[in-house]
Amino acid sequence: MFDPRFWMPESVNALAEGTDSLFMFILWVSVISMVIVCGAMIILAVRYRASADVSRDRPPRDHLGLEVTWTLVPTALLGVIFFWGTRDYVRMTVPEPDSMEIRVMGQKWFWTFDYPEQGIRLQATEEVDAKNVSEGKPVGLVVPVDTPVRLVGSSTDVLHSVFIPSFRMKKDVVPNRYTTTGFRATEEGVYDLFCTEYCGTKHSNMITKVTVLSKAEFESFVEAAQEAASGPVDGATLFASSGCAGCHTVADVGAGGIGPALYQVFGREERLTTGETVLVDENYLRESIENPVAKVVEGYGPVMPSYAGRLSEEELTALIVYLKGLGSDKEAPI
Ligand code: CUA
Repeated sequence: MFDPRFWMPESVNALAEGTDSLFMFILWVSVISMVIVCGAMIILAVRYRASADVSRDRPPRDHLGLEVTWTLVPTALLGVIFFWGTRDYVRMTVPEPDSMEIRVMGQKWFWTFDYPEQGIRLQATEEVDAKNVSEGKPVGLVVPVDTPVRLVGSSTDVLHSVFIPSFRMKKDVVPNRYTTTGFRATEEGVYDLFCTEYCGTKHSNMITKVTVLSKAEFESFVEAAQEAASGPVDGATLFASSGCAGCHTVADVGAGGIGPALYQVFGREERLTTGETVLVDENYLRESIENPVAKVVEGYGPVMPSYAGRLSEEELTALIVYLKGLGSDKEAPI
């Protein structure tokens, strides 16, 4: 219990070296304070119990030494915790020079990792992660070992939080602003990454991994990702990697799910929450991707995040072609 590994996995972040010692310091200060306070309570309660034969009419007296002690000792301890904590917080928040920058975007209910210098985007949805695991590829956020990384976080909808226990790192990602934090992984391996801010129905789906590769492996991973990104866009892949599959089913399994089932959606008459009906054509699909709350199907909530600006024109078209083909034997061109 008095070993940090009782509470957390082994720390593999060079920027968070002080976190465990500070945690143990606070733990010990708390334990010792508790023993002193509770010990005094018990001793006084026994000594001055109702049936005890002690004098009770002595007026209270000042005791300067005692008052100075119980003021100065806690102040000093809090001062130590404050400066120690601030030093480590600044070390993680202010990036090391030459940090590699990665933009992490939280959205309902998956993660996107953009690498502006490398020009690649990684998605961490349940489907993409499962596929990477089965193909033996790196999962989730992929970073090189012994390299300072600066994470710039934002959210497209509500509050999420990036939590990587092995890095002792937890940072909220917030709509309409950026938050930054940094790490330098010291060990290759696969570590957990959680969303730790309750963000809606599928909050618990926002689980992925951080994969720390050797520098050489990272280079070849980036090259492969750049190559894959330059190929033709495929609607089915996009559907899985953009998080659509988290809420919409595409197989012939009837209703259920957070969003409308998309099997044979094209050409269907949908009843909207306003009582109107709408014919599902290319333009309705496009509107529903870019501005999902405009025409919500009856029985569903306005919970889908907008994809406007997050899909290129080419991607949008590929996705609509894919949706049109669901449940029909031909993939009709748009
Ligand atoms: Cu995102 Cu919880």
